[in-house]
Amino acid sequence: MGSSKTLFFFSLFCFLAVALTSALVEETEENTLGLAMNYYKDTCPQAEEIIREQVKLLYKRHKNTAFSWLRNIFHDCAVESCDASLLLDSTRRELSEKETDRSFGLRNFRYLDTIKEAVERECPEVVSCADILVLSGREGIVALGGPYIPLKTGRRDGRRSRADILEKYLPDHNESISVVLERFGAMGIDASGVVALLGAHSVGRTHCVKLVHRLYPEVAPELNPSHVEHMLHKCPDAIPDPKAVQYVRNDRGTPMILDNNYYKNILDNKGLLIVDHQIATDKRTKNFVKKMAKSQDYWFSEFSRAITILTENNPLTGTQGEIRKQCNVANKH
Ligand code: HEM
Ligand SMILES: *[C@@H]1O[C@H](CO)[C@@H](O)[C@H](O)[C@H]1NC(C)=O
Repeated sequence: MGSSKTLFFFSLFCFLAVALTSALVEETEENTLGLAMNYYKDTCPQAEEIIREQVKLLYKRHKNTAFSWLRNIFHDCAVESCDASLLLDSTRRELSEKETDRSFGLRNFRYLDTIKEAVERECPEVVSCADILVLSGREGIVALGGPYIPLKTGRRDGRRSRADILEKYLPDHNESISVVLERFGAMGIDASGVVALLGAHSVGRTHCVKLVHRLYPEVAPELNPSHVEHMLHKCPDAIPDPKAVQYVRNDRGTPMILDNNYYKNILDNKGLLIVDHQIATDKRTKNFVKKMAKSQDYWFSEFSRAITILTENNPLTGTQGEIRKQCNVANKH
């Protein structure tokens, strides 16, 4: 009798201790960044599910939306903060990020509005565009056959989009590996993480305007001759008409699937960008390329780790920023 009572109190004590510690851990986890897993669990519990469903519906109708969801993560989060500044239209005073040359090729923004509208119908003015951008990217990765990545939420939206800061943060199409490693390094992404993120170029396309510098006036000597033939066929003019839709698929083999084919391609000198060639040969990165070419699982785990860091880059939280009503315009004050 006495011992069962002791056991009862001991169990109760253990239970309380565990509950209390996990509550504390949860709180500190949230406090380090202001982001948390399932941040909308009380305010909009169905948010993540709505975004998932919308991405599935949109993907069914327009397969290339998934490339855009994924690429948006890079173009928003790498530029100062994951604050959906990428989605803002220019104002009379300021040219926005998405409306400059450096955002060339980004597409499908209007479908992000479709997702935002679906979320607003259920929970008006609760879920930020920054979280919708990140979570649609996460679901886009799944649609393309990539890994499911658990991600925190609670990001708030920035009020400004500044085209003039892109140069400082966003590596250009012709950027060298050293600059690329430095830029991502500043966000806490190491060499292996950079190599893993570039595996996103296993889907989608690159327009000839971003490639011709490797073909004309001379062909870059490192390129695989069979790939050169293909690139010249797709990009027959040294100065392509920027309005013409001339492009080469990033991965000719499986252009719609997020797989580790990218690494096999670049080891075979079939990369499109300078940095693709350089990560396969530079001593800081080539061993990661080989490992990711060999193991899709290894790539998936490094890709998930790097996407997590990228999507937690310097978020606005708490009372910073705002929850935009419409993703392309800041709220009026
Ligand atoms: C050094 C870093 C990077 C550079 C220089 C770079 C450059 C480019 C360029 C030039 C294009 C072609 C755009 C066009 O012609 O339409 C492209 C496409 C793409 N990039 Fe990157 N990128 C980088 C990193 C990333 C990262 C980190 C991601 C995702 C996490 C990403 C995802 C994509 C996707 C999905 C596409 C295909 C888009 C489409 O077909 O609509 N890129 N990138
Ligand atoms: C990349 O190309 C742009 C023109 O599109 C040029 O202004 C810039 O200097 C080039 N950067 C590098 C690193 O070569």
